[in-house]
Amino acid sequence: MDFLERVRQRVKPERFAHILRVAELAAAIARANGLDPDKAYLAGILHDAARDLSPEELVLLAPPENEVERRHPLALHGRAARRMAQEWGVQDEEVLEAIEGHVYGVDPAQGIGMALYVADVSEPGRGVNHEIRQRALEGRLLEAYQEAVACKVNYLQSRGIEPHPRTQAAYAALQGPPFPKA
Ligand SMILES: [Fe+2]
Repeated sequence: MDFLERVRQRVKPERFAHILRVAELAAAIARANGLDPDKAYLAGILHDAARDLSPEELVLLAPPENEVERRHPLALHGRAARRMAQEWGVQDEEVLEAIEGHVYGVDPAQGIGMALYVADVSEPGRGVNHEIRQRALEGRLLEAYQEAVACKVNYLQSRGIEPHPRTQAAYAALQGPPFPKA
């Protein structure tokens, strides 16, 4: 059975539609930035495979590793999807890292991970972040990614929510001009 069908059986129809849009966009972003579109597409197909599991199932697949994860089992859906992908035979580290990292952010050395992260937050169905999508499709992926991570961190901070340690690490790794001052 192909990955698309396996994922379709495990998520709600509207989620599946989101997944297809993310995979298409991630591939287009990869193409525009000299990255492998097939890897980006595969990461897109698999990234939310665990998104509709129950908190109990998520914790079983991906035991919490810190306080943020214990408090928010939904934050485990990236690592849980990575486990599922591995069980289905996916071995490509770049793809697996992208799947896990789509929730928290990835290191900027991970091109496929950045393409997926940006595609997830800016796919047309979300109705927001058009500029981020545009920038990524113009070949300015790093800038788009910086902006997407900064948006996320600012949003969490404005609501008094502590970002996940990996989000903080991704934010810290992205130093440079496009960042607003905290
Ligand atoms: Fe997700």
